[in-house]
Amino acid sequence: MELKIFETYELLSEAAAKEILFVVKKKPTAVICLAGGDTPLRTYQILVRQAKEYHIDFSKVHFVGLDEWIGIPSSNSGSCQFFINKNIIAPLQIDANHLHLFNAMSNDLEAECRKMDGVISKLGGIDLMLVGIGMNGHVGFNEPGISFRLKSHVVELDQITTQVGQKYFKTEIELKKGITLGMQNLQEAKEVILLASGDKKSSIVKQMMEEEINEYLPASLIRAHANSKVFLDGASAHELQTNDC
Ligand code: GLP
Repeated sequence: MELKIFETYELLSEAAAKEILFVVKKKPTAVICLAGGDTPLRTYQILVRQAKEYHIDFSKVHFVGLDEWIGIPSSNSGSCQFFINKNIIAPLQIDANHLHLFNAMSNDLEAECRKMDGVISKLGGIDLMLVGIGMNGHVGFNEPGISFRLKSHVVELDQITTQVGQKYFKTEIELKKGITLGMQNLQEAKEVILLASGDKKSSIVKQMMEEEINEYLPASLIRAHANSKVFLDGASAHELQTNDC
């Protein structure tokens, strides 16, 4: 694992966008998994701008969704699908056949999970997975205590997640379950980048980086991945023992 600490959120976002562009330039048929959430938003804006500016061809790239709130339709602006569509898929004009997202409205969610894992393996695996970290140390919706061996699965959401998750929605909403790629999917991805930003993440970032790797701290698993990077801004890194920018 490589740790990089950037002075600002803007610099972190520029670096993350550069990594994604690098992967696509190297492999135009790359399979990329992108997280929703506030943290990667600026990365995606920079990515879209630079992809257009430098004429990077995204037409053969496949995008895989990381997670979704169960029971929330994609038309709801708080859904992960809405966010990915708005910030990546629409601006880059990605063909619908190259977009693989969980249908969280399905009445057979187990089939959705099997379908997602099947798609990933048919595409030859995920080349780059870009994730965030939840306030409780989750990755995607892999909540504390989840087995590291799971691939796509349905989860009962942690109380912290359901509370923090309200920030994505215009009005208060009942959030109970999620559907997500699992930590086994993360372990099998060829490259993983985790982004964290802001003072509010500093305590969980410290735990992720300094506590023993364990299933009660899902994000800690990134340290065991052979090709992973953790990008932090100064605010999220300030509690770390070593936090030179
Ligand atoms: C959310 C999502 C994750 C996201 C994380 C951090 O609940 N399930 O995919 O990475 O929590 O979100 P944010 O970047 O908004 O802090």
